[in-house]
Amino acid sequence: MRHLEYRKIVVASHNDGKLREFADLMAPFGFEAKSAKEFNLPEPEETGTTFEENAYIKAHAAARATGLPALSDDSGLCIDALGGQPGVYTANWAEMPDGKRDFAIAMQRAEVALQEVGASSPDTRTGRFVAVICLAWPDGHAEYFRGEAEGHLVWPPRGTKGFGYDPVFVPNGHDRTFGEMTAEEKHGWKPGQETALSHRARAFQKFARAMLGAA
Ligand code: IMP
Repeated sequence: MRHLEYRKIVVASHNDGKLREFADLMAPFGFEAKSAKEFNLPEPEETGTTFEENAYIKAHAAARATGLPALSDDSGLCIDALGGQPGVYTANWAEMPDGKRDFAIAMQRAEVALQEVGASSPDTRTGRFVAVICLAWPDGHAEYFRGEAEGHLVWPPRGTKGFGYDPVFVPNGHDRTFGEMTAEEKHGWKPGQETALSHRARAFQKFARAMLGAA
């Protein structure tokens, strides 16, 4: 596995929710992190069919454009009763005809699909959030770290914290949605702690252990 020479990277995302979470997760490690937004990098088209492919497209584009190692996250919600949908198309389900994203509509779309297949009890509404972090270098080399958070979907949405589909997702072992949790509760992890809760924190924990020697 290739390691980072310096703690200076680009976070290849334009998603404010993800950027906030990465800033939290990286804070204890003394990173100098800049976002793709700050570099005015264009958002590449996500043409892959897996989280890994899309994560690579974003990280490699940012690494090539800046000459720095770049970290990206491709993530989504996979709902069992819908055969794993929306999966890599999770952000697309929020897209409106004017090109803007509306996650209230996206959550409703998932709910309508669940009702159409008769999924009304918690045990039929299971799924997982998946996050794949890709760390890519300008020469094209890449390392991957995957995190998953199992849970079930609720309706109506609950809570105003977090972003995206957080208000409809209750992680296993909890009775509140991610939207009702503080960022710290949703990550469920600090360096030195054994377990993480969210998919992103779980992927980041693997990244931190492999790349930074964090406990
Ligand atoms: P992408 O990785 O840019 O393709 O977008 C992933 C989409 O998945 C985001 O726009 C969110 O809607 C959703 N998503 C990913 N992670 C989370 C999360 O932690 N909470 C809620 N929604 C998420």
